[in-house]
Amino acid sequence: MNILGIETSCDDTGVSVVQVHKHNHALQYVIQSNIVVTQNHARTGGIVPEIAARRHASTIIPTIQQALKEAQKTMSDMHVIAVTRGPGLIAPLLVGVETAKTIAVTRNIPLIGVNHMEAHIASTFVEHPNIQFPAIALLVSGGHTMIVYLERFGSYRILGETRDDAVGEAFDKVAKMLGLSYPGGPAIERLATGGNPEAYTFPAPMMYSDDFDFSFSGLKTAVLYTIRDLHTDALTKQQQQDIAASFQKSVIQVLVEKICKAARVYTAQTVILGGGVSANKELQQQLQRSFFTHYPNMNVIIPSSGLFTDNGAMIAVAAAERAMVGNFDSWTNIHVDPRLSL
Ligand code: KG4
Ligand code: ZN
Repeated sequence: MNILGIETSCDDTGVSVVQVHKHNHALQYVIQSNIVVTQNHARTGGIVPEIAARRHASTIIPTIQQALKEAQKTMSDMHVIAVTRGPGLIAPLLVGVETAKTIAVTRNIPLIGVNHMEAHIASTFVEHPNIQFPAIALLVSGGHTMIVYLERFGSYRILGETRDDAVGEAFDKVAKMLGLSYPGGPAIERLATGGNPEAYTFPAPMMYSDDFDFSFSGLKTAVLYTIRDLHTDALTKQQQQDIAASFQKSVIQVLVEKICKAARVYTAQTVILGGGVSANKELQQQLQRSFFTHYPNMNVIIPSSGLFTDNGAMIAVAAAERAMVGNFDSWTNIHVDPRLSL
């Protein structure tokens, strides 16, 4: 079965063709193409939803054409269209959903609406089709930070969330303070590799709170005050690197501590890392090291390369189980929901 996955919930236009097979009761995935067109926000300094939607509107059709071409397929080869219907920015989401509906109706192809956060979890299935449940997922993106308990794929309980900024948002805001452009996460990670993580002592908010919630706005403010107290018009490269490394260290400490606690309390078999911030190598390594040392029986899985940040392949993979049993949405009842929960 071929699934066309379409993602437009934020600022990346993602389209992918994924082939799905059933093998020994488990689904297996072959990503035949996965095109992501990333928007440039240099002029606006960040995402402006209506501008992002207009750019999706002009790129979506050429991106679909390119994804089909790279997969050496045509629209007639697609058995299902999967599209993100939330959570995300309403205008960008509408572009993807309306495009998917139009193609589905005119070409008579079944349609499945996908939850973007569920898709970040599903992005790990490509290399790990046989996940052992129960699992605990740490989802860290530009809009969300949450710890989720999974009885199985499709059955979720949110154990904790951020009370203010999402982790990716904190990376983006601190990057802006350091004069770096959007998205800030990759820029901070690059700077941090040359910095001393002990140079500044930033708080690790709510690290030992007796819940699974997070808070990152105090940490962000601590970085702001530190920069202000340096009384300089322009930070030196070394100061930038040290601040980036110290900030990143605090964030990772909190994330690793909380996910370890959740996995222990809920006796998870598997720990899943997902969302754009999971691209961070230091986070991946610290998480793997921590579980290897303390909980060697728990399997830590991260998305395949290229599937960390928003993309169409994760949307197609998230729809695969439903697609295989014919559980489709009708084009008249599929709606965009910017606050869709898991
Ligand atoms: O999942 P995603 O692509 O979009 C949303 O659904 O929000 O996540 C984007 C977020 C941005 O905030 C970006 O700065 C962050 O992920 N990010 C990173 C890295 N790569 C992307 N954060 C830290 N380290 C990275 N390497
Ligand atoms: Zn995302």
